[in-house]
Amino acid sequence: MAQASNGKTTNQKLIAWVEEVAALTKPDDIYWCDGSQEEYDRLCGEMVESGMMIPLNQELRPGCFLARSDPNDVARVENRTFVCWDDPEDAGPNNNWIAPDEMRETMNGLFDGCMRGRTMYVVPFSMGPMGSHIAHIGVQLSDSPYVAASMKIMTRMGQAALDVLGDGDFVPCLHSVGAPLEPGQEDVVWPCNDTKYIVHYPQDRSIWSYGSGYGGNALLGKKCFSLRIASIMAKEEGWLAEHMLILGLTSPKGEKTYIAAAFPSACGKTNLAMLIPPEGYEGWTVSTVGDDIAWIKPGDDGKLHAINPEAGYFGVVPGTSTKTNPNAMKMITRDTIFTNVALTDDGDVWWEGKDGDAPDHLIDWQGNDWTPDCGRLAAHANARFTVAAINCPSLDPAWDDPAGVPIDAFVFGGRLSSTFPLVYEAKDWEHGVYMAATMGSEATAAADNQAAIRRDPMAMLPFCGYNMADYFTHWLGFADKNIQLPKIFRVNWFRKDDAGKFIWPGFGENMRVLEWVCERVQGNVDSVEGPLGNMPRYQDLNWSGLEFSSDDFGGIMDLAREDGSNEANSQKELFDSFAGRLPDEMEAQRQALLSDMESAPEVWRAAS
Ligand code: OXD
Ligand code: MN
Repeated sequence: MAQASNGKTTNQKLIAWVEEVAALTKPDDIYWCDGSQEEYDRLCGEMVESGMMIPLNQELRPGCFLARSDPNDVARVENRTFVCWDDPEDAGPNNNWIAPDEMRETMNGLFDGCMRGRTMYVVPFSMGPMGSHIAHIGVQLSDSPYVAASMKIMTRMGQAALDVLGDGDFVPCLHSVGAPLEPGQEDVVWPCNDTKYIVHYPQDRSIWSYGSGYGGNALLGKKCFSLRIASIMAKEEGWLAEHMLILGLTSPKGEKTYIAAAFPSACGKTNLAMLIPPEGYEGWTVSTVGDDIAWIKPGDDGKLHAINPEAGYFGVVPGTSTKTNPNAMKMITRDTIFTNVALTDDGDVWWEGKDGDAPDHLIDWQGNDWTPDCGRLAAHANARFTVAAINCPSLDPAWDDPAGVPIDAFVFGGRLSSTFPLVYEAKDWEHGVYMAATMGSEATAAADNQAAIRRDPMAMLPFCGYNMADYFTHWLGFADKNIQLPKIFRVNWFRKDDAGKFIWPGFGENMRVLEWVCERVQGNVDSVEGPLGNMPRYQDLNWSGLEFSSDDFGGIMDLAREDGSNEANSQKELFDSFAGRLPDEMEAQRQALLSDMESAPEVWRAAS
């Protein structure tokens, strides 16, 4: 077996940990990743040879590959995800919990010999620009070459991260697909294990992931480190680790506004992060800093500064088209790993929602023949692209700036077919935290306006590594710091009319809402006080190039008193689940909404 450090680092904690893990997991070999292009090409070549990746037609998609996962390993496994605080109250009702000692025993059992017959890759990485004071270093040990190659795309990975680490501290991220090979045993295309555990230990800020090779379960820099562990670090150290995209907007006057926006999964975050303003809407540009995660720390200038800890995008492919996200379509024409999409007869990829009609014949995501009438999806609904940020045509010039970008506004949104207006602004920070804490999406797409809201506070429910009641307190506490607080907004692109049709065209047209947000931040436009917060009037939005009447506007902005009261009442269930730890401000805000609704008109009309 290769020597534990190979002379790549003098970091004693790292060397000792690699040795300790190797003794437990018993890999055939240890390989330290240097992060070079040559190494990435070699890993991909080896995976092509083993059948784990299929090279696509190099004329149509240069540098692109297709991987097909095991059908039992296609998404994050939230019910197998644990945060092991000593005290279950610290994990809160928002996390699965098992006592750390018990979990360690289980994990030690599962990891004993789990890398037999495989190579253990040592993957050092920086989450965030190398050397940035907002960034942190992690090291992942993994027995999956797909993970090592994906980490090259998704993070700043390799020797440069080890150099920045020096003798400093890092987050240890241990990962195994849980499929050891007996001598002579032939490997499967996508090794994994039916038993899966995604485990976080807050006390030593470490991660152990077993049994899955897919996405957020396996690329441990993403949800496990950058959200669950980082949210704990952020609380302890006075910053924010959030499930937010970051985008920059430059106005025709040259004013630049940076927005960080949180939406639950499947609400189009990548599309919003790469938005192109619609035709007829001149003078504005939108640029992308990140599409999924933001680390936000107070800067010397008194503002909150954000970095995208990732260096690539792991985005959902189905539904991506030149209508929904033209920038993404360009971005994934080259140097992309596709997972679980369909393969065309000419070696290209296809997915539901792509431009044009489905081809007459495909190989589906499970490797079977597919025809349009076969009744099955060609691509898995959670099929993904993995692609470097530098491929993104709308990449912001400051995306890799170690200082981060100054955040002027936080935007929160969900998928809600009724009640919630297109956009409104918080009255103050505390009200904004309440607006964000009560956000969510409908459990089912409902046209009857009756669907229950699945609350997803700050879009962090699956990702906050500690009791969310304490997370609300942490957010509220920013009001006491000597910083210029961003304005807080809520948006909803998904309101439907009585016939069940979406009222708002969405996608590029969301620019109109973003413009109002920017102009509010810059102090260039007024708002009126509405029942849920401060709102634009019809004339406050820019309608050039879009036919959208003031009646249409009413359909998406008006609020019936009964709907507002029902909403405030239904928030009680969320707050009750945090009973005993919920900060008083949250319930006080709910009571204020209830009493405001009592004195509100039967229907509050935005356009009047
Ligand atoms: C993601 C998610 O994959 O939020 O980004 O589920
Ligand atoms: Mn996400």
